[in-house]
Amino acid sequence: MRAVVLVGGEGTRLRPLTYAVPKQLLPVAGQPMLERVLAHLARHGVGEAVLSLGYRPDAFMAGYPDALAGGVRLSYAVEPEPLDTAGAIRFAATAAGIEETFVVVNGDVLTDLALGAMVEFHRHSGALATIALSTVDDPSRYGVVVTDSRGQVERFVEKPPPGEAPANHINAGTYVLEPEVLDRIPAGRRVSVERETFPALVASGRLFAMASAAYWLDTGTPEAYLQASFDILGGLRGLPPLPDAREVSAGVWVRGDVSIQGEVGRPSLVCQGGVVEAGASVAGAVVGEGCRVEKGAVLRRSVMLAGSVLCRDASVTDSIVGPGAVVLEGARISSTSIVGPGVRVAAGSVVEGARLAREDG
Ligand code: GDD
Ligand code: MG
Repeated sequence: MRAVVLVGGEGTRLRPLTYAVPKQLLPVAGQPMLERVLAHLARHGVGEAVLSLGYRPDAFMAGYPDALAGGVRLSYAVEPEPLDTAGAIRFAATAAGIEETFVVVNGDVLTDLALGAMVEFHRHSGALATIALSTVDDPSRYGVVVTDSRGQVERFVEKPPPGEAPANHINAGTYVLEPEVLDRIPAGRRVSVERETFPALVASGRLFAMASAAYWLDTGTPEAYLQASFDILGGLRGLPPLPDAREVSAGVWVRGDVSIQGEVGRPSLVCQGGVVEAGASVAGAVVGEGCRVEKGAVLRRSVMLAGSVLCRDASVTDSIVGPGAVVLEGARISSTSIVGPGVRVAAGSVVEGARLAREDG
C-alpha cells in the first residue's frame, strides 16, 4: 500500500523552533516525528510514501538522502506554492503515479490506529473516502465529523466555534482514498480537503468514517509537542521509547554514551552525549543529543533539543529549549515557554510563557 504524507505546513504554532526545522523533523522522545509516523505506517503494511512538501523541502531531502525512513521508501513531491491539504494530496498522488486505493496522513499526528482494519472497513462500505475518527474534549481545534450508525458521514465541519461543535468525534488526520477522489479536486489552486473536498463528498453518500480508541495526538502546539514525548516515555505507546534505548533505572532511558552524575527521575530520556552533572536534577524530561545540565540546574517536564545547555542553578519547567540554546546561570524558564534555536537567555532572568527568538532569526 502507498501513502501520501502531508508535511508541507509551516508549523506556525511551534515557532521559533520551526523557522529552521520543519515541524515533522523535530525529535519526539529522541526520534524525528516523521520517522515515528512512517514506522507506524510500515507496521501496517505501507511500503512506500510520497512526502508532500512545501515548506523547507530541502530539510527533508537532506535528512533522508537514501530516501528511506522508518522502514518506508520515500519519494518527494514539492509544491510550487502551498496548495493546502487537498491540493497537496492531488499534487503528490499525481507525482507518484498513484492509481489505486491509497492512504493519506497528516504528518504531525502520532497514532497507533489499526490502519489495516480501517482499509477493510473502507472496502466493505464501498466508500470513496474514509476518515479515521478520534474523540476529544474540545473539538473546536479540529474537523468535527457527524456520522450515522453505519459510519456514513452526514456532516463535516472544520474548526467550529468553541461550544458549537455538533459532536466530539474529530477528524484524526488519516484517510483511505480511492483514486477517483483526485478527479474531484480542482488542479492548480489551493483546495482544503477539510473545507471543500470532504463537505462536497458528504452529498455523494460515499464519505465514511471509522472511530478508533487507539492512541492519538496532534503534535502541532507546544503543549502537545511536550505531551507527545512524555506519552512515549511513559509507555503509552509501548516500550522501549526508542528502538535502541536502554533503561538504566525504572523509567529512565538513555541512548548511546551519556554521563549521568546528578539525579534523573522517571520518565526521562538522556540522548547520546547528554551530560547531567552532579547536583543537577532532571525529572519527566528529555535531555537531547549533546545537551548539558549543570550543577544546581533543574529540568522538569521539559524537552532540551540538541546541543542546548542549562547552566548552573538555572531551571526549566514545562518548556522547550531549542537546539544550541544556552540558559545562563540562575535563569528561570516556565509555563510553556519556547527558547528558540541558539538563543542565550540572560543570567538570572525570568521567562514565563514566552517565546524567545534570536534577532537574526
Ligand atoms: N504539502 C502541504 N501543503 N502540506 C500542508 C499544507 C500545504 O499547503 N498545509 C498543511 N499541510 C500539512 C501540515 O504539515 C500537516 O501535516 C497537515 O497538512 C495538517 O495541517 P495542520 O496545519 O497541522 O492542520 P490542523 O492540525 O490545524 O488540522 C488538521 O488536522 C486535524 C487533526 O490533527 C485538519 O485535518 C483537521 O480536520 C484535523 O482534525
Ligand atoms: Mg496539525
